[in-house]
Amino acid sequence: MLARKLNLLNRGFRIQRLGDHLYIPLSRKPLRADLKEFKSNLLEYEFTTHRFSERAKPTLKQVDMLEDKLPPHLLASLPHAVDFVGDIAIVEIPPELGNYKRIIGEAMLSIHKRVSTVLAKSSAVGGVYRVRKFEVIAGADKTKTVHKEHGCVFHVNLAKAYFSPRLSYEHSRIAAQAKQGETVIDMFAGVGPFSILIAKKCVNVKIYAIDVNPDAVHYLKRNIRANNVEAKVTSILGDVRQVIKGKLKGVANRVIMNLPEKAIEYVDLACEALQKEGGIIHYYEFTSVPNPLEAAKNRFNEAMKQTSRSLEKILLARIVRATAPYTWQVVVDAEIR
Ligand SMILES: C[S@@+](CC[C@H](N)C(=O)[O-])C[C@H]1O[C@@H](n2cnc3c(N)ncnc32)[C@H](O)[C@@H]1O
Repeated sequence: MLARKLNLLNRGFRIQRLGDHLYIPLSRKPLRADLKEFKSNLLEYEFTTHRFSERAKPTLKQVDMLEDKLPPHLLASLPHAVDFVGDIAIVEIPPELGNYKRIIGEAMLSIHKRVSTVLAKSSAVGGVYRVRKFEVIAGADKTKTVHKEHGCVFHVNLAKAYFSPRLSYEHSRIAAQAKQGETVIDMFAGVGPFSILIAKKCVNVKIYAIDVNPDAVHYLKRNIRANNVEAKVTSILGDVRQVIKGKLKGVANRVIMNLPEKAIEYVDLACEALQKEGGIIHYYEFTSVPNPLEAAKNRFNEAMKQTSRSLEKILLARIVRATAPYTWQVVVDAEIR
């Protein structure tokens, strides 16, 4: 590949295919000589800014430690991505390494000194509460921890309520848009990462954080207290449809819809929650079609046509993260009138 040949490829990030485009992370600004090569070798190319996901790889340390404990042909299957939530490390152990999971967990404990538990994912995220099952493969037998994100503290129980450190940028991106004096409805609040960060950053905001999972709301309440935002965030346990229809119609300037598998079914409700002058909706979905951004915008647009509001403007559509090969979580920020 040309970028590799010119020593331009940034190997720390993943190459990404989106529809007909291939996004290649570069390590530096191309020089004039590089541009000449591009021109003579490529039919079409463009330089743009793009948020790439990091290329996770088993660290050399991990391979070193396990070299004489694993059959050599399995070393390449070592878990690539590790999520850290507080003092818990979460990995996905491929089936061929099933017999070695405890050895791998122990190796991770000794590499990452601040980790006290290693969890292996043992199911996909599922159900109404969007939780998954875990198996403790090393360290303390627990799924509870305290995680810090953007200066906020979150008590979490990974087996009982949804939390993902992979949404960290998204939490801060939305919080950066919220303005003083706003009323925000966080329709699918989980343990509160959007709501609490907005409350921390903005003066004079009112946030309604709703979730149907009693465990999520238990931790949400705890996190509201831990971050001293009791005056700004109200937690509500219940189905968002009943909650909004019951007491939150026409109150919001901003609605966050972070339930990617089902948010489309709630676009009408988000519109009802907005003040009559309108406001902003942050709509999330999963998609695995070739043009994920266009597809998400179109789907949102179609859903809006079924409501009594109008879509003034799509402010932004971006890929939040890849969730599986050729499946992405996408966000659409939209101004509604
Ligand atoms: C993907 S999680 C998002 C959590 C949080 N926004 C975050 O960034 O961590 C979706 C949440 O929606 C909640 N949920 C699902 N259906 C719901 C409904 N009908 N009403 C209220 N909450 C719901 C689930 O319990 C889950 O905590």
